[in-house]
Amino acid sequence: MLVLGIETSCDETAASVVRDGRVALSDVVSSQIEVHKRWGGVVPELASRNHVVQVMPVVDEALERAGVKLADLDAVAVTTGPGLIGALLVGLQAAKSLAWAAGKPLVGVNHLEGHLLAIRLIPDAPEPPFLGLVVSGGHTSLYAVESFSSYKLLGSTRDDAAGEAYDKVAKMLGLPYPGGIHIDKLAAQGDKKAIRFPRANVKGGELDFSFSGLKTSVLTHLQKNPSPQGQVLSDLCASFQEAVADPLTRKAIKAAKRSGLSRLILCGGVAANSRLRALAAERAAEAGLDIFLPPPRLCTDNGAMIAVAGTHAFQRGELASPALNADPAWRLGAPRPSLAVQQQAHP
Ligand code: KG4
Ligand code: ZN
Repeated sequence: MLVLGIETSCDETAASVVRDGRVALSDVVSSQIEVHKRWGGVVPELASRNHVVQVMPVVDEALERAGVKLADLDAVAVTTGPGLIGALLVGLQAAKSLAWAAGKPLVGVNHLEGHLLAIRLIPDAPEPPFLGLVVSGGHTSLYAVESFSSYKLLGSTRDDAAGEAYDKVAKMLGLPYPGGIHIDKLAAQGDKKAIRFPRANVKGGELDFSFSGLKTSVLTHLQKNPSPQGQVLSDLCASFQEAVADPLTRKAIKAAKRSGLSRLILCGGVAANSRLRALAAERAAEAGLDIFLPPPRLCTDNGAMIAVAGTHAFQRGELASPALNADPAWRLGAPRPSLAVQQQAHP
């Protein structure tokens, strides 16, 4: 089974062809980092315009690299939410047009479901049930993945997402956007015990997260100790990184134990972070849990994860009607929008 996945929910234009929901035959990602860098964050209007320019060349390249023609596909899957509405609409229109022109079924995919199922692309991938920690620029959530169609939200951030905290702290430090990877690199030379940044205690939400207090305490620290350089900067990055990785891993393990799940997976852009990966692996081993980490390329946004989630939805017959629309606030677990009876999806 061959499924094309298209992803344009934020600032990457991505497409991939995946075989049997397990093997990415191609995985093309066109990043808009250069476009948004000078603004210090994603500018939605610029993102949409760049997706318009990139989406068809990226799809063509994904098909070509996979050695596949449109006619060979079983379905076209596309992210329809959550994300930036203008950006989502570009991918959706491209997917609709391709599906319509080639007479292929169309499947709308939740971006977070894509992240959670990216792990299926590694060799010896876990089968559900497993506990998934989604840590990205827009989301920080714990899900019990009970099956390929059942996701139970166990906890999430009350304020900033982990990636957002990384990017905002990086900005305070004068590092380029997106800052996560720069903090990660600088932290490698730093002492994580140099500064004791606070770990938030979320009242009434033992499995919830909060990173805005941490962000404020980095700001307060910088006001007292401005313009850190060299070793001082590395120590600050390592200390901040520890204050993010510590609650994420502690709560992920608590959630897995409480839900009786023996497997833990990490996903989303921040799952590429070297300290988070190391600490998660260390604590999972202590707790007797099996841990699965996608390679960094599959942590950040990509089309392959959308194709995987699309493959499972397609196999369940969850096909979209031509009226499929994007939903910028689609909660994972809420019904898939605009489902069609099978005949309607075939023009
Ligand atoms: O999943 P993703 O590509 O896009 C969203 O769905 O948001 O995640 C992007 C986020 C950004 O905040 C970026 O700074 C962060 O992932 N990120 C990292 C690392 N690589 C990317 N954060 C920490 N360490 C990294 N190595
Ligand atoms: Zn993402």
